[in-house]
Amino acid sequence: MLKAILLYLSRQKAIQGFMMNFGVTRRVVDRFVSGETLEDGLNAVRKVNAEGATATLDHLGEEVSEPEEAIAATEVYLDALDKINENGVDTNVSVKPTQVGLKVDKKLCEENFRKIIERARKYGNFVRMDMEGSDCTQDTLDVFYSLRNKYDNVGIVIQTYLYRSEKDVDDIQKLDGRIRLCKGAYKEPKEIAFPKKQQVDDNFVKLMEKTLVSGIYHGMGTHDEKIIQKTKEFAQEKNIPKQSFEFQLLYGIRTELQYQLLREGYNVRIYIPFGGQWYPYFMRRLAERPANLFFFLKNFFRG
Ligand code: FDA
Repeated sequence: MLKAILLYLSRQKAIQGFMMNFGVTRRVVDRFVSGETLEDGLNAVRKVNAEGATATLDHLGEEVSEPEEAIAATEVYLDALDKINENGVDTNVSVKPTQVGLKVDKKLCEENFRKIIERARKYGNFVRMDMEGSDCTQDTLDVFYSLRNKYDNVGIVIQTYLYRSEKDVDDIQKLDGRIRLCKGAYKEPKEIAFPKKQQVDDNFVKLMEKTLVSGIYHGMGTHDEKIIQKTKEFAQEKNIPKQSFEFQLLYGIRTELQYQLLREGYNVRIYIPFGGQWYPYFMRRLAERPANLFFFLKNFFRG
């Protein structure tokens, strides 16, 4: 119930304006967001690189409604890829399709992704298409398939809460496409998504097994220790080398787990968001864990 309310609020623009005007909110947000600028993001990348992890940089923003906004967001990614190369840091980029125009015009979105992917290719880098709400799933996959036919440095995200995901994994793997598996962070109806957490977790394990045996380099995007343990055991049982897949975790969440995985010799990638448009991202993080909400409220009222 609380989760549903928070996910509903994450899409309310009026509340966004209210929350973003409070400095106290910003302080709590800093736990999940590296800072406002690209330089803040790069500093966070330097830190995780020094600890032995790679990263993926996300410029916060989504659901743009004007072509100019989509083009401006694309420019930020092009600049980020130049700076990543100049600074010699080990990170790729993650991009939300609705930030680069999916809901304005699918062709514009594809064109913007093409520019980002080509710039990344110039530097031997990689672009991950994040997955958003189910109103975007098919369009996102259409853009991905079109681009994957031309470029091998683009990957996608699959959410294990959707019934359709097993078939999508099969189709993507036929193209040797790289997948980040995650449970899914949006509010979805039971007609298209598993309503129970256990079902989502079971489907994650099923799809983890399907992806790991494929020989394609995939990412397991989760902080769930049980699923991480099952992934390790499955890989060991099937003699799948540690270096042939990676665990991916969000900036500021379960950092001790990140260190543990690194100590055990696994590849770890940290998803690092930066930018001013933190509200929907932050609200989804609150929704995932009610304890975060209480921490936020405590700080909010303390001022
Ligand atoms: P689960 O929610 O069961 O959490 C397991 C444990 O992790 C919790 O018990 C808690 O300890 C910790 N934890 C999880 N979330 C936390 C939080 N917010 N604050 C504090 N602790 C927390 N989703 C999506 O729809 N599209 C996408 O493109 C992506 N991309 C993405 C990238 C990466 C690298 C990750 C790790 C996740 C995503 N997600 C995502 C989000 C994902 O779908 C999911 O909502 C979160 O990862 C939470 O699910 P867990 O798998 O961590 O399990």
